[in-house]
Amino acid sequence: MMGQGPAPFLELQGVTKRYPNGTLALTDISLAVGAGEFLAIVGASGCGKSTILRHVAGLVAPTSGRIAWAQPAATGGIGPGGIGMVFQEPTLMPWARIQDNVRLPLDLAKVPRAEADARVSALLAQVGLADFARAYPRELSGGMKMRASIARALVTRPRLLLMDEPFAALDEITRQKLNDDLLALWREQRFTAMFVTHSVYEGVYLANRAIVMAPRPGRIHADIPLDLPYPRDEALRTDARYAAACRTVSLALAEAMRPPGRPSGESAA
Ligand SMILES: Nc1ncnc2c1ncn2[C@@H]1O[C@H](COP(=O)(O)OP(=O)(O)OP(=O)(O)O)[C@@H](O)[C@H]1O
Ligand SMILES: [Mg+2]
Repeated sequence: MMGQGPAPFLELQGVTKRYPNGTLALTDISLAVGAGEFLAIVGASGCGKSTILRHVAGLVAPTSGRIAWAQPAATGGIGPGGIGMVFQEPTLMPWARIQDNVRLPLDLAKVPRAEADARVSALLAQVGLADFARAYPRELSGGMKMRASIARALVTRPRLLLMDEPFAALDEITRQKLNDDLLALWREQRFTAMFVTHSVYEGVYLANRAIVMAPRPGRIHADIPLDLPYPRDEALRTDARYAAACRTVSLALAEAMRPPGRPSGESAA
């Protein structure tokens, strides 16, 4: 399957996860991610989306199965050249200025201060926060805090960016703007992206591939290529191909939610 696609980057091989309390969160997840791909992971609440990201980030270990990396260097964990992670909440340190929040991963990696400052400034400019470098998180709007979180995740130039519903709490306009900014960063920095979202529309707008998960226990129900051209912009939102792709993913999601044994016709009695 990876034959003519992008070079392999990481692969979940038969990953099953049972949490200590007995919850079977994932069962037999096999998923190969190519270098530079942008994956959207969609599925109902509780179907194991965050659990997949936690495994890839190395924050939890599978009960069985494994995560294989094409290049061992990519496993470097969260930090320089490794993995960047953006959570649903911006998780900024309230007592530190935005520039200090964004510089934190570089400080932890002992990157020389002058170089770190230069990278922080460049990235803050890219996410539209140049004028807020010296502000505190409480002085920023929700969308601006999220921009700062994205800058912090990208400042180490990770090869893999994991995002767990990063824009769920934002209004639609801000969310669409951040989607465009994220795509611009992705096209420029060429990282591999795994983006969890509840929104089919957001996932299809961003990704070149949608992974649709089914619940109880969490498993992959469908793996749908999204062959819409990049760069993507507002015009795509009214494009018939976009509407068709959204419909395909939505139908797969509805199918994934159907309890076992229920007929698959569209007209539920
Ligand atoms: N640390 C934990 N200990 C025990 N069970 C957990 C733990 N974390 C998650 N779970 C359970 O594992 C299942 C998958 O959880 P997960 O957080 O991965 O779902 P999700 O798809 O991200 O959901 P949501 O869309 O609500 O964020 C759920 O049933 C959840 O209750
Ligand atoms: Mg989650």
